[in-house]
Amino acid sequence: MTSLAHSYADPILTLDNISMSFHGEPILRDINAQILDVIRPNMTQGQILGFYGRSGIGKSVLCRIMAGLMAPSSGRVEVGAAQQPVRAGMVGFVQQRYPLFGHRTLFDNLLVAAERKHAPEAARQHVETYLERFCLAPHRKKYPAHLSGGQRQRAAIAQQLLCSDHLILLDEPFSGLDVAMIDEVKRIIVEVTTMDELNTVIIVSHDIVTTTALADRLWLLGYEHDAAGALVPGATISPQHQYNLAEMGLAWHENVEAEPEFAQFVEHIKNEIRGS
Ligand SMILES: Nc1ncnc2c1ncn2[C@@H]1O[C@H](COP(=O)(O)OP(=O)(O)OP(=O)(O)O)[C@@H](O)[C@H]1O
Ligand SMILES: [Mg+2]
Repeated sequence: MTSLAHSYADPILTLDNISMSFHGEPILRDINAQILDVIRPNMTQGQILGFYGRSGIGKSVLCRIMAGLMAPSSGRVEVGAAQQPVRAGMVGFVQQRYPLFGHRTLFDNLLVAAERKHAPEAARQHVETYLERFCLAPHRKKYPAHLSGGQRQRAAIAQQLLCSDHLILLDEPFSGLDVAMIDEVKRIIVEVTTMDELNTVIIVSHDIVTTTALADRLWLLGYEHDAAGALVPGATISPQHQYNLAEMGLAWHENVEAEPEFAQFVEHIKNEIRGS
């Protein structure tokens, strides 16, 4: 498939040599990745990035570090054109277990988020729009404990979209959703990233097909072997596991999943994961 014209501008988020150990046990090792503002001629084009890795490899730990909620053992996360050190609140973060305020209704949970960014009347309007988009309107008066897992997840995604500036990090956004809801969440992610040049959605997931279909760049977390063939502790991103889907011609095409090149790439990634 043809690569659509694009170029790169300022950095949006940089992972500079991130390592993380717990009680002396390395989980992440020397992770480097940089998200750049992607420019497409005559278009408003935000970024969608994917991080893959097997269960337990350290994806959620990396998310907490990227969101500024946990300091890495070494290395730095820098955000924005000024490349400031990340602080909690700079990155909207939908955690794998979707926390909502238990004592507020769904509507009020979303309103609190929206009022961080919008004036009261506009905030209500935005909440109404998201309730409809995410098929949550009938549940507006329910408390989080009375929502299903998928409903809570959609609510948590809506909540971050309502209050975040440009950067939003989704940890396993597709787990627990049925196919129709996955399609809706995909549409919303694409919509968010075409609303503002700087809007950026980072998807951390083991759902390879859905993440690849959306992303313009991908990073695969895995383990490396030393010269003697022994496994080096701590997951990292090897140079051959950084993929620029825009250059490969797999980004921004509608229905890319139906293309043979897409299927080949997904198969390649699966083999890399099996071998890591
Ligand atoms: N606070 C902590 N203290 C000690 N170990 C931790 C801590 N948080 C995570 N770990 C360990 O780090 C490893 C990676 O966990 P993480 O939750 O990041 O995996 P994951 O890739 O997100 O997995 P999954 O795909 O199942 O969500 C696990 O072995 C976990 O036990
Ligand atoms: Mg996880």
